[in-house]
Amino acid sequence: MAKLMKKVAILTSGGDAPGMNNTVAQIIKKAIANNILPYIVRDGYEGLTQGWIEETNEDFARKIVNRGGTAIGTSRYPEFAKEEVRQRAINNLKQLEINNLIVIGGDGSYQGANKLVAMGLNCIGLPGTIDNDVVSSDFTIGFDTALNTVIEAIDRVRDTNESHNRCGIIEVMGRYCGDIAMLAGIGSGVEIISTSENKLTEEEIIQQTKKCYEKKYRSIIILVTEKLYDVHQLAKEVEKGSGYVTRATVLGHIQRGGMPTAMDRYLATILGTEAIKQLIAGNAGICIGLSGNGLQSYSFTKALAMKRK
Ligand code: ADP
Ligand code: F6P
Repeated sequence: MAKLMKKVAILTSGGDAPGMNNTVAQIIKKAIANNILPYIVRDGYEGLTQGWIEETNEDFARKIVNRGGTAIGTSRYPEFAKEEVRQRAINNLKQLEINNLIVIGGDGSYQGANKLVAMGLNCIGLPGTIDNDVVSSDFTIGFDTALNTVIEAIDRVRDTNESHNRCGIIEVMGRYCGDIAMLAGIGSGVEIISTSENKLTEEEIIQQTKKCYEKKYRSIIILVTEKLYDVHQLAKEVEKGSGYVTRATVLGHIQRGGMPTAMDRYLATILGTEAIKQLIAGNAGICIGLSGNGLQSYSFTKALAMKRK
């Protein structure tokens, strides 16, 4: 066997997202094919700091590919904002003579990676989160699967609304990004959408719902992004003001689980391949995103400063 050139560690960070496993698997496969020794880090930046780093192989990649969640684990680890904590993480990698790290996560994870780059580590970032809030990529790994889960839920609520002549409020995830609500809502023909970017007041929602009642629509869906309203309280207000019996459903973490869709598997695979390509080309300190029909790389600093259109 040819001599191994380099080593690369892979971690997933922040909220898990369907397709993260495809990404990890593809990186492992492409690394091995290019004589790079792959390592996995368990539980994101927490594991990096604790030294939960293991050599991995193609068997592992074959086992996890296409599964939901992230098999190598993830974490929310605010301690990583401290320099001494990050230094411990870097020391753990140094001990294993690993100089390259691929981070799959959202904006927060990119912040962590950017700081590791400033401390001398070669990092590559890939966008993995259901929220689609990584500005440097048109779409993030996991977003499409979450959208499909949400549209299925909308259809189900629609069925029962239609039977009962009711209004249903559905709250979806997205943190401060309204993409899940906006794309799933438009795609499903819901009557009212309210997101962080285009927030309706409670009164506006009530008035719009009332208009639907006056037009004798049998089934109304109001789709809202999390963190905007107390949706159970809102349901009472809408019921009082519109005429519809109204129920609220919070979809919650079911949006994060499930087998990745074809689009997420595809996106994960091309991004994983590109990460190894960029590493071999000697390009680190970058994150890679989808732009139009192609892939585009940016420095973390530039990506993190990009404004959403
Ligand atoms: P996401 O990556 O999906 O946005 P988080 O915001 O939870 O999810 O970020 C993931 C992890 O990245 C955090 O738990 C923390 O360990 C790390 N992180 C986030 N922000 C910073 C920061 N400013 N500096 C260093 N590490 C950070
Ligand atoms: O970032 C993904 C996400 O699911 C957000 O949509 C949501 O606000 C958050 O994570 C929930 O985080 P947790 O699972 O840590 O409560």
